[in-house]
Amino acid sequence: MADDAVTASWAHGPCTWSILVHGGAGDVAAERVPLHVAGCERAAAAGAAVLQAGGSALDAVQRAVEVLEDDPCFNAGTGACLNADGAIELDASIMDGSTLRAGGVCALAPFKNPIAIARRVMDASRHVLLAGEGAARFAQEQGFARADPSSMITDLARARLAAAQAKRATEGWAGGTVGAVARDAGGRVAAATSTGGMVNKLAGRVGDSPIVGAGTYADDATAACSTTGHGEAMIRVCLAKTASDATRTAGAEHAARASLAMMHARTGGTGGAILAARDGSLGLARTTRTMSWAAVTDDGSRASGA
Ligand code: GLY
Repeated sequence: MADDAVTASWAHGPCTWSILVHGGAGDVAAERVPLHVAGCERAAAAGAAVLQAGGSALDAVQRAVEVLEDDPCFNAGTGACLNADGAIELDASIMDGSTLRAGGVCALAPFKNPIAIARRVMDASRHVLLAGEGAARFAQEQGFARADPSSMITDLARARLAAAQAKRATEGWAGGTVGAVARDAGGRVAAATSTGGMVNKLAGRVGDSPIVGAGTYADDATAACSTTGHGEAMIRVCLAKTASDATRTAGAEHAARASLAMMHARTGGTGGAILAARDGSLGLARTTRTMSWAAVTDDGSRASGA
């Protein structure tokens, strides 16, 4: 399929261990791009420290996403966008490619690190995905503290909601989602994704990020993938699973390009995807104007961009 819609892509060859993070596909203003890239670099370094110490890909992607959730630049955790009621509702998921176990939360009330709760759903429940008040109750029973909403809502999030409601900005865009993919020295891959979703979304709207196969996917036989962008489109084409499966016959960069081109052609949706393939090679692509990202590999090389 022609991939004229793809605006940028990047690749790195096979590695013993590697990690790649993104700070969301979108249209970040030029003066804010360096902040987003620096945030991605900090997150990739934190995940790489886990891998360098012999930790698992699963722990590495969780750590990287926690760093991004704590950074108010991004639409995840602190800084998450607001729904039509002016409230934060959070979506997140994590997946382990060696076992195909996964956990997710959606339409979750404010908690500082929804990715840690998604991990707990995977590790300590019988389920894959918990929603709304049930997810919040589970989190509190597991020892996570509900956050004071005002401690997580930024002036930028308030301004974006006001602009969307005044129709001064595109309603329905979900920029700034965060995610990470990694391969560890044991050959295991993992992926994690977290978001506040879409500005001015209806209360209860759930996007792709907590949905296994749409926003997040990991399988040691193929690749780990985290996606970002227009969630409704990504759900409809199961973007993360589609991109992971494409690495059976293509490199990670090409798999990201081809799957985004297919989504654009079939649905008109735009976004980005990052992949860590089973051999540790990395690839990303976007069909938007910007997508901040950063990578660290076992040979000590670091790369970043937007
Ligand atoms: N991709 C994030 C969302 O649509 O919620």
